[in-house]
Amino acid sequence: MAALARKTRISASAAAAEDALAADVVAGLTASPKRLPPKYFYDRAGSELFERITALPEYYPTRTEIGILKSRAAEIAAFVPAGAALVEFGAGSCTKTRILLSAAKVAAYVPVDISGEFLNAQADVLRREYPDIAMLPVAADFTAPFDLPAEAAAMPRTGFFPGSTVGNFEPHEAAAFLRHAGRILSPGAALIVGVDLVKDTELLNRAYNDAEGVTAQFNLNLLARINRELGARFDLSAFEHHAFFNRERSRIEMHLASLKRQRVSVCGARIDFRAGETIHTENSYKYTLESFGALVRGAGWTTAAVWTDDEKLFSVHALKLSDAAPGSRVKEAPPSG
Ligand code: TRP
Repeated sequence: MAALARKTRISASAAAAEDALAADVVAGLTASPKRLPPKYFYDRAGSELFERITALPEYYPTRTEIGILKSRAAEIAAFVPAGAALVEFGAGSCTKTRILLSAAKVAAYVPVDISGEFLNAQADVLRREYPDIAMLPVAADFTAPFDLPAEAAAMPRTGFFPGSTVGNFEPHEAAAFLRHAGRILSPGAALIVGVDLVKDTELLNRAYNDAEGVTAQFNLNLLARINRELGARFDLSAFEHHAFFNRERSRIEMHLASLKRQRVSVCGARIDFRAGETIHTENSYKYTLESFGALVRGAGWTTAAVWTDDEKLFSVHALKLSDAAPGSRVKEAPPSG
């Protein structure tokens, strides 16, 4: 890899990460339609931009979810048994975690995130605030199988998956994730999930097209990162942020649109863009209470409670593992005729 040769003292894991980035970027940009994996949004600059998105006036999800968690903290905490391990899939917001840690009587907090550095910093902060709760961070990809720390393995478990991150999966991937979470949390598990809701198109479009342009910067940072880390030469002024609600598919789509016909070389691959051609960078699926309920049932969980804000912008669901194996209660109709 030419990009690797440029850097003389690079650790083996950093080199492997750079290779993975290069392979994913070339595969995505030579596909048709062009796409890039959203997981690469979150380098340091991207994470900082995302923090700013969550505070934007147009971006209602974060503050609405926090409002629901705060006003319903006691009811939500009833789904977290005393002495439980609270397992958070991804570790973003200390604000949301604190609400649960303060309202419930958990023995351990287990944040699972790919970024170990971020995790440990967060655990240090929370350790000082909650000296009686064992902070047991796990540096792992939470969509793949991972082992809970031995200390947490003997405790009852409740999962926490806020931020409508579940909406960033394709629906079939979301179902697969929920099954996987069930395996990690069982037996007797509960899962608290934040889910953004279908609503007025204008309100949705505004949330992903803020006036200040922070979401645009966040999206464009993907190209900036590819320039920084792979030595590509994307001209950021020749691409534009496009985000819109696709009502048929019930999702916000984020794209980067090429403003002109252009060719960019990335890791030796020549990538041609037509004027107006886009790179699809992320989806954010929006559910109704019914459609999310159906997804959950198909993945072996039962909706035990749902909370929303007064305007029904956002929802928080408490799920319990269904007793029977998923699908086993569906009786097939006898053949007719
Ligand atoms: N899951 C949230 C959402 O879809 C947060 C998020 C993920 C986001 N990627 C984003 C927000 C990109 C804005 C832009 O809204």
